[in-house]
Amino acid sequence: MNILASSILAADVTKFGEEINTTVANGAKYIHVDVMDGVFVPKLSYGQCVVKGLRKCTDAVFDVHLMVVEPIKYVEDFRLMGADIITVHLEACTDVKMTLLKIRDCGAKAGLSIKPETPVEEIRPYLDYVDMILIMSVEPGLGGQKYIDASTERIAQTRKMINESGMDIDVEVDGGVYLGNLKTILDAGANVIVSGSAIFNGNVAENTRKFVEIMNG
Ligand code: DX5
Ligand code: ZN
Repeated sequence: MNILASSILAADVTKFGEEINTTVANGAKYIHVDVMDGVFVPKLSYGQCVVKGLRKCTDAVFDVHLMVVEPIKYVEDFRLMGADIITVHLEACTDVKMTLLKIRDCGAKAGLSIKPETPVEEIRPYLDYVDMILIMSVEPGLGGQKYIDASTERIAQTRKMINESGMDIDVEVDGGVYLGNLKTILDAGANVIVSGSAIFNGNVAENTRKFVEIMNG
C-alpha cells in the first residue's frame, strides 16, 4: 500500500492542529515530524513537547524523523510522547543495531535513513532490524529543496535489495517530492512518500487529494 506522510515542517505553526486535520481528512495516513538538533543538521526544529502536544489532535500515525546525533538517547522519550515510527540516521549512530533494537523494544516501528551520499549497500547489515528504510532525496535539514535526480536509482536499488531479502520493509522517500515527480518515485519502488512544501503551501486539502489520487493509481 502507498502511504502519504505529510511533513509539518512546511505547515503553518500557528495552525498545526488544523492543517494536520485537513491533510489527514483528505487521505494522508502519516504525519511526518522532522526533529533537528543543530549538530547533525545545521538547524534546530522541535522536539518531544511538540509530538506530545500534537498527539492530542489526531490519531494519524506519527512518523518521527530524528536528524540528531546519537538518537538512541531520545528514542524512549519520543515513544512515550506518541511516536509510532521512529527513524534514525545511519550516519548519526555509534551503534546502529542497538539503536534500532531499542526503537522496537519500546514498541515503535524502526526506520533507518541514509543521506544522499551514503551508499545504499550500507543498509544491508540492518535489514533484519528495520520496518522502513528512508532514502533522503535532498540533504537533510531543510524543506523546499530540489529533488536530487540520482535518488531515483537509489530507491530502485533499495527496493531490489529488500525484495531479494524477502522481508516486508517499507521504502520511504523524503525531500523535493511534488506532483511532477511522484509517479517516477513510486515506480522506482517507494511506497511511503514524505511531502512538506507540496502539501502545505497553498490549498492543503486539494494538494493532499491530488497526491493521494496518484498514489492510489
Ligand atoms: C528535510 C526534511 C523533510 C522536509 C521535506 O530534511 O526531512 O521532511 O520537510 O520537505 P519538502 O517536501 O518541502 O522537500
Ligand atoms: Zn523528514
